[in-house]
Formats: sequence, structure tokens, C-alpha cells
Amino acid sequence: MTDLDEEAATSLDAGTVASLSGAAMTAGQHLTGTGGDALTVDGISVRLAGREVLRDIHFTVRAGEFVGLIGSNGAGKTTLLRVILGLQQPSAGVVRIDGADRPRHAPAVGYVPQKVLLDPDMPLRARDLVGLGLDGNRLGIPLPTRRRRQLIDEMLRAVGAGLFGDERVGNLSGGEQQRVLIAHALISRPRLLLLDEPLANLDIRSEQEIVELLARVAREQQISVLLSAHEMNPLLPVMDRIVYLAAGRAASGTTDEVVRTEVLSKLYGQHVDVIHVHGRILVVAGRGDGPAEPVGEDGAHCAVPDWL
Ligand SMILES: Nc1ncnc2c1ncn2[C@@H]1O[C@H](COP(=O)(O)OP(=O)(O)OP(=O)(O)O)[C@@H](O)[C@H]1O
Ligand SMILES: [Mg+2]
Repeated sequence: MTDLDEEAATSLDAGTVASLSGAAMTAGQHLTGTGGDALTVDGISVRLAGREVLRDIHFTVRAGEFVGLIGSNGAGKTTLLRVILGLQQPSAGVVRIDGADRPRHAPAVGYVPQKVLLDPDMPLRARDLVGLGLDGNRLGIPLPTRRRRQLIDEMLRAVGAGLFGDERVGNLSGGEQQRVLIAHALISRPRLLLLDEPLANLDIRSEQEIVELLARVAREQQISVLLSAHEMNPLLPVMDRIVYLAAGRAASGTTDEVVRTEVLSKLYGQHVDVIHVHGRILVVAGRGDGPAEPVGEDGAHCAVPDWL
């Protein structure tokens, strides 16, 4: 578990793979209710090394919702996900999973961490890693081998990893590994799935495929998804709601409610323009006197037009 705590890249050997598998279990919480709020983040503040990294964060994720947690580098996305998982103690506030504070029963929160380094020399196939997700969730009588294999095959196919289930995970590309890690988190059938920047390092096609996959899973299996990203644009077609983090604070609501000049200017504490171009949204700081400065990577990916 400690490996997952590190901001540094997580290197997976057999021991840490077990930790990864256990993350969803030991950090997870049992979801008992039907419908309603799967996750409530209520007044969370976090101090790290004497600095307030998050201040009074409030939002909810309802059952089956796909929510984007958007913010630039250092905005506090990973810190917030770690608070939800119970890996980071907040200085104030509470997290409720399905209305309950922190019950200790079956795992119900799946987690795909931001950085996982999978050593090519590690003799672990993609299907083995997915299977660890299954083991972490089961106490007592193990599944019969055939049933176990069937479940793993189904999950590999569901995430588009059916063709490389027998490959060593360390040899897979970043996008392929991402699919396997998602399968690992999903196979325990969590009610809430937290993903920390799963789109980083993916090409546009893989990015779209992963987003569509997660949206489909959320819809079909009523799994609530909270996914962190720098860029909101790839998520616009599927996001039910957005939690926008900046300057240690958050605004949440639908994209139309949150990604507005007034709301983001207040959040950043300076004037921010929200620009819609070709179906994309750019968030840019600055008023035209002096160079406009992209705020976060939404803007950073695109040149700011001259006419601004
Ligand atoms: N253990 C720690 N001790 C002190 N400061 C920390 C610690 N972990 C994170 N921070 C600081 O907290 C802030 C938020 O970090 P966090 O990793 O949550 O950001 P993030 O939004 O996930 O960024 P990124 O997009 O780069 O992953 C950063 O300024 C970071 O330096
Ligand atoms: Mg992070």
C-alpha cells in the first residue's frame, strides 16, 4: 500500500502488485444503498507540509454518473482521490460513500492510480494482473479455475485487451497497460471507480476508446466514475458533471454551469476567459493587456488566437 502513497512512479514487483490489488480492498468501502449519491465529498480540506492544498471541497457523485475531476498540474487531483480512498487524512471535512462514513465490508471502490511502472522483466501476464483484482475481492472459497478464467477473459475482452491477455504486462504499450489496469479495477465489480489521469500518454484514438469504454461501463453497470484529467475536452461527450479544481478550491456542476468566465475567474482569483472553438473549450487567463496565459492544459494545447 505504501507504494501507492508515493508521488513518485510506482514500480510494480510481485509485492507491489499485491498492494495494488489490495488498494481497492483495504481503501475501499462498502456501498449499500441503491441509487442516490455514490460519493459525497463534504468540506474537505488538506494541509501538506504546512500548506493548504485543498480548501473546503464539496461535491457529490450520483450512482452511475461519469464525473470529470479537472485541474492543471498540482491542482490537487491526486490528493483528493487519495482522501476519498482513505489514504490521505484530511484536515477537515468528511467523505461519504453511498451515504456511509467508512464502513468496513466488501470492497466497492476501484482505483487506477496515476503512475504505475510495470517492469518488462516481471513475469506477470496481463491476465494475471487482472486476476489479482478478482482475488483481492474474494475471501474464503476460491473460484473454480474454469470460472475464474472465463471472468478474466470476459473482462479482458470488455476493455479491448482480449488479444494481449497472455503478454507480459511490462511489454505492453502505455495504452494497452491502461486497459489492463482498468480491467484489474473493474473485475471486482466496484460501485465507484476512481481513475487518476488514465488518459495521460494515450494517443487520441486510444483516449477516445478508453473514454467510451468507461462511459459504457458506467451506464451499463451503474458504476459511478470519477476520472481526473488535465484536459476536459476528451470528456465533454460523456461527462455528466465536472469538478473543476483550481487554487485549492473546487467548482462542480454540469460543464455549462461550471466552465464559465464568472465561475472560473472566481475560482482562480483572476480574470479567466472561457472560449468555445470547434467544439473544444479553452480556458485562458488574462484580459488582453499583455499576453494571455493558458490556464491548465486545456489552453496549453492550443495557441491563443490573435483576436483575443
Ligand atoms: N506528500 C506531500 N507533501 C507535500 N506536498 C505535497 C505532497 N503531495 C502533494 N503535494 C503538493 O500538493 C499539491 C497537489 O498535488 P497533487 O499531486 O494532488 O496534484 P495533481 O492535481 O494530482 O497534479 P498532477 O496533474 O501533476 O498529477 C502540489 O502542489 C504538490 O506539490
Ligand atoms: Mg496527480
